[in-house]
Amino acid sequence: MKHELQALVFDAYGTLFDVHSVTRLADSLFAGRGAALSQAWRTKQLEYTWLRSLMGRYDDFSAVTAGALDWALESLGLAARPQDRASLLRAYRTLGTFPEVRGALARLGERHPLAILSNGHPDMLDAVVDHNELRVFFGERVLSVHEAGVYKPDPRVYAIAAAQLGLPAQSIGFVSSNGWDAAGAKSFGFTAFWVNRGKAPVERLGSPPDAVVDDLAGLAQLLA
Ligand code: LAC
Repeated sequence: MKHELQALVFDAYGTLFDVHSVTRLADSLFAGRGAALSQAWRTKQLEYTWLRSLMGRYDDFSAVTAGALDWALESLGLAARPQDRASLLRAYRTLGTFPEVRGALARLGERHPLAILSNGHPDMLDAVVDHNELRVFFGERVLSVHEAGVYKPDPRVYAIAAAQLGLPAQSIGFVSSNGWDAAGAKSFGFTAFWVNRGKAPVERLGSPPDAVVDDLAGLAQLLA
C-alpha cells in the first residue's frame, strides 16, 4: 500500500491541532468547567457543519465555531463577557499541536508531498499553521472546504484535494483522527488512515479505514 502512495493529506482539527488546547483558557475563565465547555463546543461545532450541509446552507467555519461556542456556553449555564468570548475564539487560531506532530511530519515529508484539507476557513488555517510554524511542511497546500461551500464528509470536499494534487484518489493517503472523516475520505476513494487518538470503535459507515494507528508517529513508522 505504502509504495503506491504519492501524497499525504491531513485533517487539521483533532489530527494536527489539539482542539482541547483551549481547555486551560476555558478553565481560567470558568473554574472547573473548562473541559466540559471544550467538549460541548467541539461536539456542537461538528454537528453544525453536518446540519448546515444537510440544509444546503454554508456559513464559514469561524461563524460555525462562534455559534457553537455560544450554544455550548448557554447549555452549561456559563455567562461569558464579550472579551472572554473573543479570547476563546481567538484561541482557536493558536491551538497547539499534539506532541508527536512535528517530528512525524518531518519523517513523512521526506517521502511524500504533504497537504492539509480542513473544514477551517483559509484565514483560520493559515493562522494556526503559521502559529505552529508548520508551513515548512505544507507550503501552499493548505486546502479548505471553503471553495466548495460545503463541509466534510461531502465528496465535493475530498475532490478539492484530488484536483489540487492532480493525483488519482487511491494514490492519496488521507489522514484523520476523526473516524467519520476517515470514513468519508475512504468512501470518496482515498487510501484512509485513521489516527485513533481516542481509542474509539471504528465507525459503522460502510467504509472502514485501510489502516489504524495510535498517533502520527505510528503512521510514520507504518509508512517508513
Ligand atoms: C477539520 C475538522 C474535521 O479540520 O476537524 O476538517
